[in-house]
Amino acid sequence: MDLKIGTLLAVVTVLATGCRIHYKTEKIDYKTASADVGEGKRLTMLVCGSCHYNFETKDFSGKQLEDSPKFLGKIYAANITQHPGLGAGKYTPGELAYLVRTGIGRTGRLMPYMHRPNMADEDLDAIVAYLKSGDPAVRPSERNPGKTMYSPIGRLGLSFTKGGKYRGDSIQKPKNDPVLLGKYLVDNLACFHCHSKSFTSLDVQTPERSKGFMGGGNKLRDAAGKKIRTPNLTPHATGMLNWTEAEFRRAVTEGISKDNSVVSYPMPLYPELTAAETSAIYAYLKTIPPIDNKVK
Ligand code: HEC
Ligand code: HEC
Repeated sequence: MDLKIGTLLAVVTVLATGCRIHYKTEKIDYKTASADVGEGKRLTMLVCGSCHYNFETKDFSGKQLEDSPKFLGKIYAANITQHPGLGAGKYTPGELAYLVRTGIGRTGRLMPYMHRPNMADEDLDAIVAYLKSGDPAVRPSERNPGKTMYSPIGRLGLSFTKGGKYRGDSIQKPKNDPVLLGKYLVDNLACFHCHSKSFTSLDVQTPERSKGFMGGGNKLRDAAGKKIRTPNLTPHATGMLNWTEAEFRRAVTEGISKDNSVVSYPMPLYPELTAAETSAIYAYLKTIPPIDNKVK
């Protein structure tokens, strides 16, 4: 069979049988602990901010994600302020926790880019507490950032992605071991989503099983809509073997690369990361398998 016809048939079949981008949700027994709201704000900026924080309105009222490949459709990160209709006001704390750990929203919609199955209890509690707090950046906003419309190919891609099962056991944050903390951050800040081979071959449950883990090459778009490939961050000469920790920290928190060029969009800036945290990520990246991949 002609390859094009095969692809077309696959698309049509999936559309006809209904893509599995809707799931049954389960009610979980989630109790908010006495969480640190200030830490929650920092973490929400770090983990959710690159998509949901709007720098013009200075709140979490969402925006269009320009870097998503056009063939997936138009993707808008939602308004997640407390507005009941336009924002995430209807979400209960339990539903928020469920969404973050499974990638499945309260109405059963799968949103895989948000899936953080291994997030520690204390970080999850802090983010949920912050989203429900009185901070101006999460107070009800009537802004409508736009509605996500996946293309047939985007829906097809999503139908291959699986939502997760909620992990109800207690997950501890590895605070005292820099390498494990670095691994935790690469996982939860989703560095590996962009810096591995492709979005379609990620393993969000066990990030290091993703194809070309941290070896770069994933195709994204910059602010001008031009194709941009992510750099290789593994300890290889074609990656970050010769980077110092200070150079690494400057790139991640200030957006200036080793050669003094500007690190451009869609690489998020992470000014909220502490020196201990960038040091931990740097230490972890030294321990992962080097990949020979020269990215142009
Ligand atoms: C990579 C970008 C990205 C990140 C990071 C991200 N989100 Fe989202 N989020 C989206 C997009 C895109 C949508 C809209 C999806 C849609 O309409 O299908 C969304 C939708 C939502 C919604 C609305 C869901 C619904 O039922 O309509 C909530 C709530 C939410 N995100 C919370 C969060 C929280 C909390 C975090 C951080 C822990 C987070 N998101 C991180 C991209 C992201
Ligand atoms: C949304 C996708 C995305 C995410 C998430 C992301 N990056 Fe990047 N990153 C990029 C892109 C694209 C570039 C290249 C930018 C350029 O060429 O100017 C880049 C560049 C970099 C650079 C500079 C490398 C060089 O050779 O100049 C470093 C260091 C880096 N990222 C580290 C990280 C770390 C650590 C994380 C997680 C905390 C992370 N990135 C998360 C997309 C991403």
